[in-house]
Amino acid sequence: MLAREKAIGLLDSGVGGLTLVKELNRLLPGENIVYFGDTARMPYGPRPPHEVRDFAVEIIEFLAATQDLKLFIVACNTATAVGLAHYQALFPFPILGVLEPGARAALKVSKSRRIGVIGTEGTIASKAYPQVLTALDPEVKVFDKACPLFVLLVENQLVDTPEADKVARSYLRPLQEQGIDTLILGCTHYPLMEHVLARVMGDQVALVNSATATALSARDILAQSDLLNPGQRGWQRFFVSGDPQNFAEIGSKLLGYPLRAYRVVF
Ligand code: DGL
Repeated sequence: MLAREKAIGLLDSGVGGLTLVKELNRLLPGENIVYFGDTARMPYGPRPPHEVRDFAVEIIEFLAATQDLKLFIVACNTATAVGLAHYQALFPFPILGVLEPGARAALKVSKSRRIGVIGTEGTIASKAYPQVLTALDPEVKVFDKACPLFVLLVENQLVDTPEADKVARSYLRPLQEQGIDTLILGCTHYPLMEHVLARVMGDQVALVNSATATALSARDILAQSDLLNPGQRGWQRFFVSGDPQNFAEIGSKLLGYPLRAYRVVF
């Protein structure tokens, strides 16, 4: 196998990371992709950091042992926030997280330098976003807020309900009161309710979704080492720890084509 034909590996706690696969399909259609959704152990957000780190290592180890990988993307914000440097130290291939690309994208659009970040309890408690943002720009003011119910709203297909609006208004009010002009959607699930968040925040606030920024970073990393795979349609393999049928159904809807998932029991 040619080095450029090796796959990009991705992990997420569930289907949310498919928002990034969608962007990879758009920007790097020739790439081969292997994806692991840890659906039996999601959500990661409320779990202790060491547990999420161990799960992520287990998944990367599995994919590294069974697939030919040239790049790995931790598509889950929580798993990135609690352990990116740890994973990078353990494996020989480059490992990219979703925080830094999202943070850079936010700094590009913010004029007031007052940036909001929303994510799971784990991501917000880790303070990883404020750390990355202030390392990139010490002048920036970061206001963060855990929004644990958003994942449940998306998972239970309750996004387009009055309750979702109410929950969003109550979570986002403190950020609005801080006068932010940019809001980072620091969780894989939030792009799936972006229209609700946009309605609540209004046009004065730009919403930044890290999927596009991360796919562009992946393209840069591969281009630098001459590993881009040209072409229009790479192959894709999906693994899950929970019910493959359920994942395939939601995933096909999200990606717009039929897919098959295989269950892996650790
Ligand atoms: N994938 C997680 C993240 O991006 C959200 C879902 C979960 O809590 O597992 O933070």
